[in-house]
Amino acid sequence: MIVIALYNLKGGVGKTASCVNFSYLAAKEGYKTLLWDIDPQGATSFYFQAKPKAHPGIKKLISKDADLDAVLMETGYENLDIIPADNSAKSFDIMLDEMRGNKNRLRSVLKQFNGEYDFVFIDCPPGFSALSENIFSAADIVLMPVIPTTLSVRTYNMVKDYFKEKEIDPAKLMCFFTMTDLRKNMHHEIMELLFKDKRFFGNYIPYLSDVEKMGIHKQPIEEFARSGDAARCYRELWTEITEGVLE
Ligand SMILES: Nc1ncnc2c1ncn2[C@@H]1O[C@H](COP(=O)(O)OP(=O)(O)O)[C@@H](O)[C@H]1O
Ligand SMILES: [Mg+2]
Repeated sequence: MIVIALYNLKGGVGKTASCVNFSYLAAKEGYKTLLWDIDPQGATSFYFQAKPKAHPGIKKLISKDADLDAVLMETGYENLDIIPADNSAKSFDIMLDEMRGNKNRLRSVLKQFNGEYDFVFIDCPPGFSALSENIFSAADIVLMPVIPTTLSVRTYNMVKDYFKEKEIDPAKLMCFFTMTDLRKNMHHEIMELLFKDKRFFGNYIPYLSDVEKMGIHKQPIEEFARSGDAARCYRELWTEITEGVLE
């Protein structure tokens, strides 16, 4: 089981869009895939139209007597299950409390899925917290979408420093560019600079309206614009990621 967390300290960088498309592609290739929408904003759950009438609550998942069947939902796509966001503030507080003081709590929660799934994707909220520390510990790969702007370079360095400070294996951190606009010199320059870091995949996701249209279709891109550039870019990037991860 490989745990991939889509993370960035910043919001609005394409974590959710990428999480939805990668998990869909993994499932389509036949991998048993679980998507855990841990961001209380619940955007991933929205894209998969996964909203249980009464959420059993995060408590069911992280308590000692965890009841996985109560929290897992089907997405309607073969091989792809989801744990929808539990967007009550109270549940989020409970989860944070659980994780404060134990950075391995999430890892032991995820152990319950060992053998059941080939891939677990986690759609993370932005920021540093007890939750992010738990996510970094539990994930095999912290996959970070980066928009090539100066502010993003700063955030990228902050995340690297955080890994150092918390003694997290820096090899876990893998990055790719999103929302690139190659008409902009700055995007070119920053990509060239950061590619030297060897932490970035060669494939990247340009700024493309098909990605935005996921919100209208409430589907992964592959389902409504398979022959377009956005779908192709996500497929090629996913192939590059799996080549790096599955060998
Ligand atoms: N490559 C892209 N091209 C155009 N729009 C994008 C792209 N990636 C994401 N978006 C849009 O940008 C917004 C933020 O993306 P999202 O995936 O929700 O970011 P995050 O989860 O990091 O907050 C959404 O409206 C999404 O549709
Ligand atoms: Mg998001």
